[in-house]
Amino acid sequence: MRLLVTGGLGFIGSNFILKILNENNDVHITNVDAELDGSNRKNLQNLENSNNYEFFKGNISNKKLMEEQITKCDAVVNFAAESFVDRSINDANPFLVSNIRGAFTILDIITKQKKRMIQISTDEVFGSLSTGTATEQTKFNPSSPYAATKAAAELIINSYSTTFDSDVIITRCTNNYGPRQFAEKLIPKTIMLAYQNKKIPIYGNGKNVRDWIYVDDHCDAVSLALFNGKKGESYNVSAYNEINNITIVKKILDIMDKSEDLIEFVEDRPGHDFRYSMDSQKISTELKWKTKLNFKDGLEKTIQWYIDNPEIMNNSSSTILNSTPWKISN
Ligand SMILES: NC(=O)c1ccc[n+]([C@@H]2O[C@H](COP(=O)([O-])OP(=O)(O)OC[C@H]3O[C@@H](n4cnc5c(N)ncnc54)[C@H](O)[C@@H]3O)[C@@H](O)[C@H]2O)c1
Repeated sequence: MRLLVTGGLGFIGSNFILKILNENNDVHITNVDAELDGSNRKNLQNLENSNNYEFFKGNISNKKLMEEQITKCDAVVNFAAESFVDRSINDANPFLVSNIRGAFTILDIITKQKKRMIQISTDEVFGSLSTGTATEQTKFNPSSPYAATKAAAELIINSYSTTFDSDVIITRCTNNYGPRQFAEKLIPKTIMLAYQNKKIPIYGNGKNVRDWIYVDDHCDAVSLALFNGKKGESYNVSAYNEINNITIVKKILDIMDKSEDLIEFVEDRPGHDFRYSMDSQKISTELKWKTKLNFKDGLEKTIQWYIDNPEIMNNSSSTILNSTPWKISN
């Protein structure tokens, strides 16, 4: 099988590529990534001499490039996206280009070429839920510009499924953590700052709840959707692991044997959703997906990975570790 993975130099895409190539000898992967925020060539440097892997620097909104690449493959897994909510508050335009135009470019081509597409989406499309949990039938209610662009991509994909019977599957996942995540996100940022004994900024009162999943468990879900999923379906992916931010930061400090005095509450970001929650019974029942790692073990493994990869720790610039990145002006 020849697979086109987009956004494969980022956090989840790189973990997915490593996992698929590790588990399958007969899969060839082409990775198209524009090397934007979140990307890191070092994430896949071990594959540089692999016969089953090649990399093209390019943008998924480039129709000609995507036509050429999709012609050579059997299926596309679209991880490519502008993924930093804070930055979408600062400037939403790149989010429209990558997350809507880019996804649409792939969608239109795979429909004409009759190929399969897996679109990687997010629980953020459902917006903040004070109670209850979102199923595949729950109405979208995105709050941030990022979430709105991901929801928009889903809507155009659904319209193509209905109108053209396109072979598209959407997976929607909760917050991922694990190795290779860009330093600006909560867990790596906390690990790196704690390691350097620097203050750890927490938005607002730190009570915002996210549902955390180890990245390998998410990659398993994407792989099941790719190989066994039913066209036109969407699958929610949740590990049922809802925790607030302050609890996570305290757990990391505890594992790293650091003082809670490092915690510093800072101004909350605008429109900060209070809680996300999703039900993932459908993928568990229909595709037999289940998580493999509990949160404690996953967190310990993640912390160890960052400590074992000091070049990533040292590369974290002060801009990345800024306490209010949504205020960065372009
Ligand atoms: N991280 C999470 O917790 C999470 C949860 C649910 C869904 N998702 C979704 O999973 C996907 C991957 O997220 P991530 O955390 O790995 O993000 P990331 O920011 O680490 O990686 C995104 C990658 O996409 C590339 N990219 C962006 N726009 C591109 C374009 N127009 N053309 C080509 N490449 C482009 C970037 O260069 C980067 O390498 C995204 O679609 C995101 O919306 C992420």
